[in-house]
Amino acid sequence: MTEKRIPTPSVPAPDILRCAYMELVVTDLARSRDFYVDVLNLVVTAEDDDSIYLRSMEEFIHHNLVLRQGEQPAVAAFSYRVRSPQELDKAEAFYTELGCEVRRSKEGFVRGIGESVRVQDPLGFPLEFFYEVDHVERLAWRYDLYSPGALVRLDHFNQVFPDVPKAVAHMEDLGFRVTEDIQDDQGTTYAAWMRRKPTVHDTAMTGGAGPRMHHVAFATHEKHNILAICDKLGALRLSDRIERGPGRHGVSNAFYLYLRDPDGHRVEIYTQDYYTGDPDNPVVTWDVHDNQRRDWWGNPVVPSWYTEASTVLDLEGNPVPTTDRTDSSEMDVTIGADGFSYTRKGDDDSMPEWKQGEYKLGNQL
Ligand SMILES: [Fe+2]
Repeated sequence: MTEKRIPTPSVPAPDILRCAYMELVVTDLARSRDFYVDVLNLVVTAEDDDSIYLRSMEEFIHHNLVLRQGEQPAVAAFSYRVRSPQELDKAEAFYTELGCEVRRSKEGFVRGIGESVRVQDPLGFPLEFFYEVDHVERLAWRYDLYSPGALVRLDHFNQVFPDVPKAVAHMEDLGFRVTEDIQDDQGTTYAAWMRRKPTVHDTAMTGGAGPRMHHVAFATHEKHNILAICDKLGALRLSDRIERGPGRHGVSNAFYLYLRDPDGHRVEIYTQDYYTGDPDNPVVTWDVHDNQRRDWWGNPVVPSWYTEASTVLDLEGNPVPTTDRTDSSEMDVTIGADGFSYTRKGDDDSMPEWKQGEYKLGNQL
């Protein structure tokens, strides 16, 4: 059920290049530093008493992740880089026409980033737009610094929102293009993937109580880098940081691993999706009951992956209240007694009993 559509502004949307960084509020900066720097080997560009600015190995802008000390875990900004400084005027006009809270700062809101516009978008998410940024050394050739699980780029965000079609329509107004989605025969959309840069996505909308942040994803070069992260977590007796995977996605075709940081923020490690830059790039629609949509090998999706996500903050730093999803939930229609899924559509053979419903509590034992 789609609620009232968010109006399309009469003014043009800002020209977004790519997802650039996320600002995360964490409750124990030293503990988060251990996870993101010592375990995941993100590179420290700068740090002070209450913030750490981190980047991936191929990045040349100041950072891809800001960790900021706070009382409650939350997301303060999903930040996008735009094509030129003039695009900030467009961002300001676009969201002002929508009646959103809009703030503009000449000096930028965080270290390393120049003039920026921050908004609370009509869906409730805190977004940032910037062009000016400090350049730092691109460490792509510094193989002496690479770890076996090196994170090379920020790949995407993933947002949780109750009404996926409403969110997608608004993101299309903002210039995003859908590359893949998950639907059912009744026309319910459960999730959608949208891009600016020519990969499968810069952000995705996952159906659920929201607005919330589902995950932030970093790319590795190859699959073996993801396996190396798993081995390292095992060696450090940190296997409980692994929530789901490693595996191969159906959607996006990427190899994946989902981790939870010390505050529960979800981080995906992701590699080898595909090029989507042509104007007639085909949209891929998956049936919600296809057992291979979320994991190409048919492995279970754990319930926490569907239900848990991070709080987002408004521009004052207050938690944004969430609204429940009223459309069917993907977990309910695919997991447990009420749900079903198939491996071969139209096949009369039912799934093996131990795999019916894709995942049942207890069946993993
Ligand atoms: Fe993802």
